[in-house]
Amino acid sequence: MPGDVASVLRSFLDSGGKRLRPVMCVLGHRAGGGHDDDTVLRVAAGLEMFHAFALIHDDIMDNSATRRGRPTVHQALGATYNDSALGAGAAILVGDMALVWSNELLYAHSPLADRAAELRRIVDAMHQEVIYGQYLDLTAPLRPLADLEAAWQVIRYKTAKYTCERPLHAGAALAGADTALLAALTRYALPLGDAFQLRDDLLGVFGDPQHTGKSTLDDLREGKRTVLLALAAQQATTTQQRLLDGTVGNPHLEAEDAARVREVLEATGARSTVEAMIAHRYEEALAALDAVLLPTHATTALRTIAALATERTS
Ligand code: IPE
Ligand code: IPE
Ligand code: MG
Ligand code: MG
Repeated sequence: MPGDVASVLRSFLDSGGKRLRPVMCVLGHRAGGGHDDDTVLRVAAGLEMFHAFALIHDDIMDNSATRRGRPTVHQALGATYNDSALGAGAAILVGDMALVWSNELLYAHSPLADRAAELRRIVDAMHQEVIYGQYLDLTAPLRPLADLEAAWQVIRYKTAKYTCERPLHAGAALAGADTALLAALTRYALPLGDAFQLRDDLLGVFGDPQHTGKSTLDDLREGKRTVLLALAAQQATTTQQRLLDGTVGNPHLEAEDAARVREVLEATGARSTVEAMIAHRYEEALAALDAVLLPTHATTALRTIAALATERTS
C-alpha cells in the first residue's frame, strides 16, 4: 500500500469538520435507550469515514480548491505530483479507500444478527440517497435557476436524509429501536436537515471563509441550484435576472461578480426568506422532539445539536 493513501486520508480527517453525522448516530442510539458502547462508536466513526469519501469526491466534481481551511485532496495531490489530472485520479482512489474502510468500521464489529441486518438496510439506503442527491445536484444546472422544487429535492436527498435522518436511524437501530421511534426521529431530522443545508447555502455565499474553510466563490462558480438562488430568480426584475444568468455558473466568476449576486439576493428578499425558513424548520424539529418521550439526556442533546446546526458560522 503506498503510504500516501493513508497519510493523505489521515490528514484530511484531522483537518476538522463538525462530526455531525457521528454525533447524530450516537444520539440516535441514546434515544433508543443505548449507552455509548464500542459498537455504536465504531459505526459512528464509519459514518465519518464515509463522509470523507463523499467530500473528497465532491470536491473533484465541484472543482473546489479548499475544504476545511486547507487545499482539497485532489488539489494537494496535484501539487505533490505537479500534475492536476494525476491529482484528481489519485484523489478518487483515496476516496474509494475511505469508502472501503468505512464499510469495515460499519460492519466488522457485528452486533446481534437482527440489528446488523437493520443497520445494513439503513446504511444501504443512506448510500443510495446521498449518491442520488449528488447526481441531482450535479445535473440541476441544466434546469432553470427558478426551479424551486428541484432545489428542495436536492436538499432532501443530498443533506437531510444523509446528514440527519439516516445517522440517527443507524444509531437507534443498534439500540433495537422500533419503527415508531424511527418515524419520530424522522420527524425531527428532516426539517432540521433542511435547515442545516439552507444555512450551508447562506454560508456558501455570505459566510466568512476563515470560519467555513470554504471559498465564497465555489457555489456561484459551480452554479449550485440552491433554494436561495431559486427564490431570488423567482423575484428578480429583468435586470436582476440578467445579472444572475450572466454570473451564476460562470467558472471564471470573481469577487466583484459575487458581490453583485449578493446584492440581488438581498434586494429580492431571498436572503431574509431563507433565514425565516431556517427558523421555521428549527421550530418544527423542536416540536417533533416535544411530541416523543425519549431519555432526558437524549432530548437535551438533540435540542442542543439542532441549535448548533442551524445557528452556525462554520
Ligand atoms: C458538507 O458537510 C456537506 C453538506 C451536506 C452540507 P458538513 O458541513 O457537515 O462538512 P464538515 O464535515 O463539517 O466539514
Ligand atoms: C457536499 O455537497 C457533499 C455531500 C453531500 C457529501 P456540497 O457540494 O453541496 O457541499 P460543499 O459546499 O462542497 O461542502
Ligand atoms: Mg457538491
Ligand atoms: Mg461541494
